[in-house]
Amino acid sequence: METILVTGGTGYIGSHTVVQLLESNYNVVIVDNLSNSSKAVLQRVEQITGKMPTFYQADIRDEQALTDIFNKHKVSAVIHFAGLKAVGESSQIPLEYYEQNIYGTLVLCQVMAKSGCKRIVFSSSATVYGDPASVPITEQFPTSATNPYGRTKLFIEHMLSDLHQSDPEWHIVLLRYFNPIGAHPSGLIGEDPKGIPNNLLPFVTQVAVGKRTHLSIFGNDYSTKDGTGVRDYIHVVDLANAHLKATEKLERLTGLRKYNLGTGQGYSVLEIVMTFERVTDEKVPYEVTERRPGDIAECWADASLAKAELNWSAQLQLDDMLVDAWRWQSGNPDGYAS
Ligand code: NAD
Ligand code: UD1
Repeated sequence: METILVTGGTGYIGSHTVVQLLESNYNVVIVDNLSNSSKAVLQRVEQITGKMPTFYQADIRDEQALTDIFNKHKVSAVIHFAGLKAVGESSQIPLEYYEQNIYGTLVLCQVMAKSGCKRIVFSSSATVYGDPASVPITEQFPTSATNPYGRTKLFIEHMLSDLHQSDPEWHIVLLRYFNPIGAHPSGLIGEDPKGIPNNLLPFVTQVAVGKRTHLSIFGNDYSTKDGTGVRDYIHVVDLANAHLKATEKLERLTGLRKYNLGTGQGYSVLEIVMTFERVTDEKVPYEVTERRPGDIAECWADASLAKAELNWSAQLQLDDMLVDAWRWQSGNPDGYAS
């Protein structure tokens, strides 16, 4: 049985990926410092899969801790989720972002190289396309960054690319996620943001559950179908599944590959609110406010490369994403602390 080391494996996307790895009979070793997640995730994962992953509470910047873990386990590949991800916060504390994301990945790769494990799947983001000139976005589009978070993703992509150039034994897949939402259909694991959510969906579900009075829609004067921002929302279970396909691909791969992970379909903020109200029968009061600085009008993926090379495409629809997000939020009003 192959062992996959998952950094950030108790986080939102990591936990859903761990479930699918366990269900596909991989051994899973999680490294997470719990800075943005809870240990309670582990019991929930066990409830879903009947298996308990091996867990280390450790920081990816801790070279000794990582070395010990690699000495203890014969790791065949790493799926690397760990890092900080709040765009607004990254402008307030950029050094923290550079240290955790860039330096953390650097230490991880050094330890991997020393241990002879040279296969990695990395969580990148559609943010590396900056403000795209057109949609849908293909992997060939020029990259740029508009904030420190985005710069860390872009820099790590360059770092991994240089690493592969220098040593072709490295097998690397960069996954550029569009907008992950939803939760496991069991309602046992889901997104559990600390404090006020930055992203649309957790805000919507917190309004519906009564934790917040109303949603602010950031601008309705974009040149989009109804004036509100359009994004490519993708179910986290579909996203997790792509990590399994990418991990399998690592075995056969020569080189570094990059894939967009989205559905290829864009929905506006108003469409999200209306669809959520329809499928859940809950009300989401909202008001339209100023645009959020740094936001772009529209963004959706051309995900045909992932279909062609990974044999992956998103299977779940927007209704599924919203029903599942609501099942998680309504069953766990305070997330894992519920
Ligand atoms: P998350 O915060 O839920 O998960 C990240 C996990 O990493 C957390 O459990 C956190 O405790 C852990 N972590 C953070 N810094 C660490 C460190 N130095 N050492 C060890 N563990 C550490 O976030 P997520 O939504 O699951 O995102 C996972 C990855 O995907 C991130 O790299 C993120 O940038 C990327 N991504 C996320 C989105 C999104 O919308 N959620 C979109 C694009 C890319
Ligand atoms: C944001 C990040 C992006 C990151 C992604 C996933 C920014 C500028 N970009 O993308 O780098 O990869 O999250 O973590 O932050 N909206 C509202 N009201 C809200 C929240 C959001 O109207 O309370 C709107 C936004 O204006 C946008 C859409 O909803 O049009 C989606 O927003 P969000 O969920 O924050 O994702 P992105 O901005 O696409």
